[in-house]
Amino acid sequence: MKKVLLLGSGAREQAMASVLKSSAEEVELFVFASSVNPGLRELAKEYRVGQLRNNTAIASFASQAGVDFCLVGPEAPLAEGIVDVLEQIGILSVGPTKKLAQIETSKAFTRELLAEYKIPGSPEFMVFDSLKGTEDWLRHLEESFVIKPDGLTGGKGVKVAGDHFKNMNEGLSFIKEILDSGAKVVIEEKLVGQEFSLMSFCDGDHLIHLPAVQDHKRALAGDQGSNTGGMGSYSAADFSLPFLEEDDLVAAKKINEAVALALKKKIGRGYKGVLYGGFMATKTGVKLIEYNARFGDPEAMNVLALFSEKTFPPSGKADFLQVCLSVINGTLDKIKLELKPLATVVKYAVPEGYPENPIKDKIIDVSAIDKTKVKIFYAAVDQRPDGLYLTGSRAVAITGTAKDIFTAEKIVEEEIKKITGPVFHRADIGTKELVNKRVAMMAELRK
Ligand code: AMP
Ligand code: GLY
Repeated sequence: MKKVLLLGSGAREQAMASVLKSSAEEVELFVFASSVNPGLRELAKEYRVGQLRNNTAIASFASQAGVDFCLVGPEAPLAEGIVDVLEQIGILSVGPTKKLAQIETSKAFTRELLAEYKIPGSPEFMVFDSLKGTEDWLRHLEESFVIKPDGLTGGKGVKVAGDHFKNMNEGLSFIKEILDSGAKVVIEEKLVGQEFSLMSFCDGDHLIHLPAVQDHKRALAGDQGSNTGGMGSYSAADFSLPFLEEDDLVAAKKINEAVALALKKKIGRGYKGVLYGGFMATKTGVKLIEYNARFGDPEAMNVLALFSEKTFPPSGKADFLQVCLSVINGTLDKIKLELKPLATVVKYAVPEGYPENPIKDKIIDVSAIDKTKVKIFYAAVDQRPDGLYLTGSRAVAITGTAKDIFTAEKIVEEEIKKITGPVFHRADIGTKELVNKRVAMMAELRK
């Protein structure tokens, strides 16, 4: 039996917990999170509510529980250095130390790391700590620029010319706003193409790549509206994506591998956890948008749906617990991970008005959903005696698997429609129409 501390209470963490609980060896879960996820609570032996940035509270919960290791869901505790703190009391983690987590927490660090180690895939970029030179740089980029504050922004702080700025002056005032807040600013070339996520397990030296996934950041159908944490995602049965060429996936894998190696050289110790590359397939090949130091949300639900249950041993195929232990022990090269060759679709139901003015404190009802067809993962909801309440962010994720993307999409759409209350979702994610549009866009670019 293994005792595991899980940090976080979103849909991603519920998915991590449920696949962990289906491992061959028994797992006792100790959850520390900022809110109560009703689906996660069912799986936990103990569930402690507290601040995810409170290292002391987490460490004391971990040592009282006597956990064997810690599995980190979101980025906040990584940024706070929880992995370093737990290591000091003898608890190892699936998740990087604070210095290694800079791959997510500092966009400047990441761009500079790729440049220093000559890793291909970066757009043209410069990092500024004052206004000096910024106007010239915007001109150099021919007004096709992206402006990013250097720090965690929850995917919402990045602004892109054309989408968020009509002209250079608007760009300059955003730059000034960032600098005035005390942050550095990264200004880079705007990439055109299709985004995809490639997450890899990393044990410091070896990587196991997961299937490529495409998330949908915009709130509304047809990629309209504001950027969100991610409205839904899909993956294909061949573990690539319909708009990718074979070389694209090879290039992305090589970039993740090179970055893991560069991190080890730069920081002096290996990266352990999930290394999540956010890439753009462009007409000149794969480019890197950003790194995350954790599973993506919703992407975690796509890839975790493909794990076999209770297979290790005797089949020799690893389950999720085995993968976690191998990340910690540096033995990922010794295990065989065989994921189910299925397509997956995840869609989030979010409060009306999300992300700008989300409805809160209203009840939704998910009881009509057929749990034999899809999985339900809870996120920003609060289970009260009289019902399930919205708390303002992405509420419930519905995951379906099938032999192809479009079948999985139909299954998910059929069920997510049954949720009642003031929520909406993107009906177009994973449909033939939208996927074919992505394929056509890449074909046009590559012509
Ligand atoms: P990030 O926080 O770096 O993930 O950026 C949020 C979103 O901004 C990404 O998912 C992209 O859609 C967009 N973005 C970031 N960098 C670029 C870039 N260089 N070119 C085009 N779009 C970008
Ligand atoms: N799906 C985007 C993220 O997890 O950051």
